[in-house]
Amino acid sequence: MSSGSGSPAHARRETFSGRSAFIFAAIGSAVGLGNIWRFPYIAYSNGGGAFIIPYLVALLTAGIPMLFLFYAIGHRYRGSPPLAFRRLHPGTEVLGWWQVLVSLVITVYYAAVIAWALSYVWFSVTQAWGDDPGAFFLNQYLHVSEDFGLTLDFVPGVLTPLVLVWVAALAVLAFGVQKGIARLSMVFMPLLFLLFGALVVFALFLPGAGRGLDALFTPDWSELTTSSIWIAAYGQIFFSLSVGFGIMVTYSSYLKKKTDLTSSALVVGFSNSAFELLAGIGVFAALGFIATNTGQPVDEVAASGVGLAFIGFPTIISQAPGGVFLGVLFFASLVFAGFTSFVSLIEVVLSAVRDKLGLGRVAATLGVGIPMAVLSVVLFSPSTGLNLLDVTDAYVNSFGIVAVALAVLMTLAVLINALPVLRNHLNAVSSFRVGRGWQLMVAGVTPIILGYTLINSLQDHIRDGYEDMPGWFVGTFGWGTVVGIIVLAWLISRIPWSTRSALDAPDLDGKPVAGPVLDPAMDGKWSHETGAQS
Ligand code: ALA
Repeated sequence: MSSGSGSPAHARRETFSGRSAFIFAAIGSAVGLGNIWRFPYIAYSNGGGAFIIPYLVALLTAGIPMLFLFYAIGHRYRGSPPLAFRRLHPGTEVLGWWQVLVSLVITVYYAAVIAWALSYVWFSVTQAWGDDPGAFFLNQYLHVSEDFGLTLDFVPGVLTPLVLVWVAALAVLAFGVQKGIARLSMVFMPLLFLLFGALVVFALFLPGAGRGLDALFTPDWSELTTSSIWIAAYGQIFFSLSVGFGIMVTYSSYLKKKTDLTSSALVVGFSNSAFELLAGIGVFAALGFIATNTGQPVDEVAASGVGLAFIGFPTIISQAPGGVFLGVLFFASLVFAGFTSFVSLIEVVLSAVRDKLGLGRVAATLGVGIPMAVLSVVLFSPSTGLNLLDVTDAYVNSFGIVAVALAVLMTLAVLINALPVLRNHLNAVSSFRVGRGWQLMVAGVTPIILGYTLINSLQDHIRDGYEDMPGWFVGTFGWGTVVGIIVLAWLISRIPWSTRSALDAPDLDGKPVAGPVLDPAMDGKWSHETGAQS
């Protein structure tokens, strides 16, 4: 178990053994379900090949600069989001909890999708869906209820893999940052690239694969003049790089003091996008096959999310030569990609609670992880789980993540002018130096795009509601979750830090961590001169 087991967080903060362990863990967190089932469809439905341009612009102007920013916060202030933000400025602890709660909500439903994928690895072998994958998924597997709301009629086929997924993740986390998270990612990421690489090669040899690739990559340049393609590109980059989830702050707080932050962010950002492109090729080659086989146009077989993975892919698997092989590769890839992201999401919550209460790793893993697992099982294994998952995912992604990222940027840039300090920190430890251009991106370009995206989504959702779901259901579990997160974040930030908390814990070298809260005389008067300089 981790060296921190059972000891209060006042003990030395855990660390990754080196930069490559961190990079594997960060790529493991970024590469997730979003890369495999979200990117291909978003690219296809937003200009195809032309989407690559706004996508790359979003990566370079928002994705990578935001990674730099969150790495700098976690590394300089060495804490989970609430601790790091509190050290940055006492008034910003609420922003940290906001990110933690966004992660908590995503965690509880993300687990369910991994559990489904786990079941589908086996179903691919038995082709359990027969002739009708849609009916099998919704009726026989999930037993989807016609009613909205919450019930406790657990579906055993979902409950069992869901419990398994939680037990496995908590066991990994109990082993700590290096022996648990880093080791897991160092095994799962190469395996994922191998499995998915094999899937892509296999899919490219299916008859009709070229049609799918033509559909994906034929550019529709006229789309470039519409705002929706740009919004889609920025949304994809944010979700895919896990920006605004608190993960990057948490992971970078486990780095050693002398670590090249900017080049690590470049490696993580570009690897994640490379995997995303690979996923686009694999998924569309397979869609080209099914379109050819059934004589339909590609746009009729293309879908995203749950529909693509659990209905579209089984249809392909049933008809493709060697379909069992394709199915096992696809669903195992979803499990591997999803599991490392899932572990990173739980770690955000664990580390925040550990820092605030001074809990040891095992105590936090059990004390926080088990209630989260119970919540996940109670909400997402009954027959009402799918609708709940759908609405929570839509609202947390459209509003939770975008809103917290915007609030962080505006606070850092305008209210507390923290960007120059963070820029100096990045340049003090990194080989790739950032200049005023970086500040311009995070204080100007990105907030404008995020603000625009947020207003657009708000208008759409207020005008159209969400799918055909009843207003009370969307209000309670969609808007209610988003507002609840903010209120709860504020309330938790008011709770005093335990005397055992990590607030005043020394840095790795025994010196105080940068930040004003270490000096009572400075309380309320913020100065970055206090604390250790890097
Ligand atoms: N970045 C993770 C994903 O793509 C959350 O699924």
